[in-house]
Amino acid sequence: MTFNEDHVYGLVIVTIVMVLNYAVIRRKALKNAGNAVRDKLDATLLRWSKSDPFTLRDLLNGGVAIFGRTGSGKTSSSGKALASGIVRHAGSGGLILAAKPEDRAMWESIFRSAGRGGDLLVFSPEHPLRFNFLDWENLTGGGHTRNITKCITVIGETLRSSDTTSGENADFWQREQERMIHNAVEVVKQATGKVSAPALQAFITTAAMHPSLIGSEDWQAKFHNKCLKAAYERQKSQTEQHDFDMARDYWLSEFPNMADKTRSSIMTGVMGILHTFNTGTVRELVSTTTNITPADMFRGKWILIDMSPAEYGDIGNFVAAGWKYLTQKMVLRRHATESSNPICIWVDEAQMFVNSHDAHYLAQCRSHRGCMVYLTQSLHSYYGSLKGETGKHQADALLTNFHLKVFHALGDVQTAEWASGLIGKTLTTFHGGSMAPQDSLMDELCGRGRFTGSFNTHYEKILQDNVFLNGLRTGGKANGLLCDAIVVRSGEPFTGGQNWLWTTFSQK
Ligand SMILES: Nc1ncnc2c1ncn2[C@@H]1O[C@H](COP(=O)(O)OP(=O)(O)OP(=O)(O)O)[C@@H](O)[C@H]1O
Ligand SMILES: [Mg+2]
Repeated sequence: MTFNEDHVYGLVIVTIVMVLNYAVIRRKALKNAGNAVRDKLDATLLRWSKSDPFTLRDLLNGGVAIFGRTGSGKTSSSGKALASGIVRHAGSGGLILAAKPEDRAMWESIFRSAGRGGDLLVFSPEHPLRFNFLDWENLTGGGHTRNITKCITVIGETLRSSDTTSGENADFWQREQERMIHNAVEVVKQATGKVSAPALQAFITTAAMHPSLIGSEDWQAKFHNKCLKAAYERQKSQTEQHDFDMARDYWLSEFPNMADKTRSSIMTGVMGILHTFNTGTVRELVSTTTNITPADMFRGKWILIDMSPAEYGDIGNFVAAGWKYLTQKMVLRRHATESSNPICIWVDEAQMFVNSHDAHYLAQCRSHRGCMVYLTQSLHSYYGSLKGETGKHQADALLTNFHLKVFHALGDVQTAEWASGLIGKTLTTFHGGSMAPQDSLMDELCGRGRFTGSFNTHYEKILQDNVFLNGLRTGGKANGLLCDAIVVRSGEPFTGGQNWLWTTFSQK
């Protein structure tokens, strides 16, 4: 066969068609790859191992709980690595509650390394940022009495040292405190148009403590009666009228007739919260003006509450609790879309800050692109902070919803049992055997054995409890600055097919 011009043309046309086909296929492939990269949730924040990334999707699936005894490396190894990964994710925002005075330096260095030094805002008495909690709740919570009451009581949970409501009848006292705050908020709101902590305090302290006082001119000139009068005379909707009538009955009939002991027990808790709101550093920081709010986090800012309870005691806890609660509410109110930035609430030494609202938040934050990272020593840290039987259930609910759990060396058996229980059991074969005594000397001399073997199978823990108690490196020079941890991911196996993975972090 000879090559003529037609053959050459044919060959050229086939080549052109092939090249065009290749170009179309390549374009499609590139487009698909582009889509994959464009799905922001696949962004890798950290690697547990070469083949196991920790993605934004993992983070936003509830968050991470890190456990380990003191000095096991939570803050300086896994915590630091995770924090760096999240901060490096452009646009991320969040709230950080400092647990120790040295935390600020660590976070500043994390933000500097990520090139986001300007996105870390520090909230403390030494800085000019201020945030009026109740003004914000009035504004964003629609001014509903229930929302404002909940805000005050959740923040107030932190004042445990002045708590008269713990113990056997804790639920009763808490309900009564909540009812008192609710009835005060209702009247003050209707009388003045907004609710502030000083107005609530003045309203409750000038209430009639005895029915005989109500007729006196002296009492009638006081703030309490002025508020009742203003609210009574104001034009009201049907609902407002009903709520006002309930509150008025409480203040003019139920409250003055209460047994002194009951009334003072309820008032101690309520006035403790309002007093904290209205005095000293707390008043200056959270009851005056506002130049920063949780909304700044939606714009990619991180707010560090640098008031560690170690340094500031109860007031550090109080300010942190307010910020945490209002951030959680703000995230839950957001209609998140694909372009909404992730918001992370970072709490080291979580036992100092955990409260009854956390489980509720964690169960819902996923669809609002929110998440939490909680670091603490043990299960008991949570049980101890959320008191009573209800508290234990709240703690269990909270821990269930952390999608990822990281275990450093543990210091107590119960947490170790729980950790190994999360990994589960597998069918294990056990071998055994026994030697019966020889019948005769001849058998023994000839080596005729009377060994009987046996085996049985049953389900055993994949990792025994002691793996968590002994053998995980805890950093420091002696360990080459390395900290081991076991990561447990519920529901989704790692590439090895297991729901757990052994990993190592450096403290460098
Ligand atoms: N950069 C570092 N170089 C050397 N050692 C370090 C470094 N950072 C921390 N360590 C040491 O490593 C250990 C773990 O410290 P880390 O503060 O991370 O523990 P932790 O689990 O957060 O403890 P705690 O519950 O008390 O906060 C401690 O003994 C600490 O002194
Ligand atoms: Mg720590």
